Amino acid sequence: MRIIVVGPGRAGRSVAGAANSSGHVITAVVGKSRDHAAPAAASLGGAAALGMADDLPPADLLIVATRDDAIAVVAAELAPRLGGAVGSAVHLSGLKSVSELAPLAAAGCRIGSFHPLQTLPSPEAGAARLSGSWVAVTAEEPLRRTLHELARSLGAHPFDLADGAKALYHAGAAAAANFPLLSLTMASDLFAAAGVPFVAARPLVEAVVANAFEMGPRPALTGPVARGDVGTVAAQLDAVAIAAPQWVAPFAATVLHLAGVAGRGDDFRLLLERWRPPQGEEGGA
Ligand SMILES: NC(=O)c1ccc[n+]([C@@H]2O[C@H](COP(=O)([O-])OP(=O)(O)OC[C@H]3O[C@@H](n4cnc5c(N)ncnc54)[C@H](OP(=O)(O)O)[C@@H]3O)[C@@H](O)[C@H]2O)c1
Repeated sequence: MRIIVVGPGRAGRSVAGAANSSGHVITAVVGKSRDHAAPAAASLGGAAALGMADDLPPADLLIVATRDDAIAVVAAELAPRLGGAVGSAVHLSGLKSVSELAPLAAAGCRIGSFHPLQTLPSPEAGAARLSGSWVAVTAEEPLRRTLHELARSLGAHPFDLADGAKALYHAGAAAAANFPLLSLTMASDLFAAAGVPFVAARPLVEAVVANAFEMGPRPALTGPVARGDVGTVAAQLDAVAIAAPQWVAPFAATVLHLAGVAGRGDDFRLLLERWRPPQGEEGGA
C-alpha cells in the first residue's frame, strides 16, 4: 500500500517503520511543519516531508498518528488537502471513536481505526514490537479486510473492535499494562525494606503472567489469599505497617479485592476491617 503518516511521533514512526520494512511504501510524512516531518521522512526511504498546509499526494491509506486530542482537529485541517486521491484514513487511538475522522469521510475517504495493543516507546523498539502484537481494527468492509491484511503484513494479529466498546477496551488495556506496575512498585519497596533484590522476583512474576494466559487469571491465583490463610496475611500486614506504612492501605485494599476474586471475601472481612483507612484518608502510597 501507499501510506501517508500524519504525526511523526512514537506510534506513527513505529507503524511507518514496520510498514516500510514489510514492503509498503510511505509516500509522505506530515508534521506540524515540514521541518517536524523531515527526520522521520528521511528514515523512511524517500518519503516526502510535508507540513499541515501542503497538499497530500495520492495514497491508499492515510494514518493519523497524532495524540488523541489532536485527531479531530487534524482531520478537519487535512480534509481540504486530499485532492480526492486518498482512499482510506485511520487513526491509531484505542479510545477515540472512528467518527473523529468524519471530515475525511465527508471528503471521500473510508474511515476506521487501527490500534496496536502494544507499548511503542520509540520508533525502533515500536517497529520491532509490532510483530507478534495484536491490533484492534474498527472499520466496516471493505476497509476492515484491508486493515486486517495490513496488520498481518506487519506480523501482527488483527481483531475486530466495535466502535462503542472502545472506552471499555481501553480501560481493560490500562488494567493489563499499567495496574501491575502498582503491585510491582509495592513489591520492589517491600523487598528493599527486607534487604532482598527486586530482580529475584522476576522468574516468579514471569511465571504468574504465563499462568494467567495459559489457565486464565482467576485459576492462576495462588498464595495465602487464595488458600484463605488469614493468619499469614495478618502477619504480612503487621510487617508492612512497621517497615513501609505508606503501603498498608494499598496492600489491604488489594487483599480485599483479591479475596473477592478468590471467593474468600467472608474469610478476610474481619481482618480487613482493622486495616480500613479512616474516612477521607484512602489515598495511595
Ligand atoms: N505510543 C504508544 O505506545 C501507542 C500505542 C498504541 C497507540 N498509540 C496511539 O498513537 C497516537 C499517537 O501517540 P504517540 O504515543 O505516538 O504520541 P507522540 O509520540 O506524542 O506523537 C504524536 C505526534 O503527533 C504530532 N502532532 C501533535 N499534534 C499535531 C497537530 N495538530 N498537527 C500535526 N501533528 C501533530 C506530534 O508533533 P510534535 O512532536 O511536534 O508535537 C508528534 O509527532 C495516539 O492516538 C495514541 O493513542 C500510541
